[in-house]
Amino acid sequence: MRISIDFDKCSGHARCVARAPELFDVDDDGNSFVLVDEVDEADVEDAHKAVDVCPERAISVHED
Ligand code: F3S
Repeated sequence: MRISIDFDKCSGHARCVARAPELFDVDDDGNSFVLVDEVDEADVEDAHKAVDVCPERAISVHED
């Protein structure tokens, strides 16, 4: 599984970081970014929860 962020939608709420700090971080300008290329099996549930908590619906996950 991979995670992508739509940077046109992300407004820096950082709820993704609060929910899954192993997967996301936010820079000083309030832009979130993904910390991993591939989501570990143990973090898949957190990835889905991050999708759910983002108020801008900026996060998506992709199975590959
Ligand atoms: Fe951005 Fe949503 Fe996270 S707005 S900082 S991707 S909670």
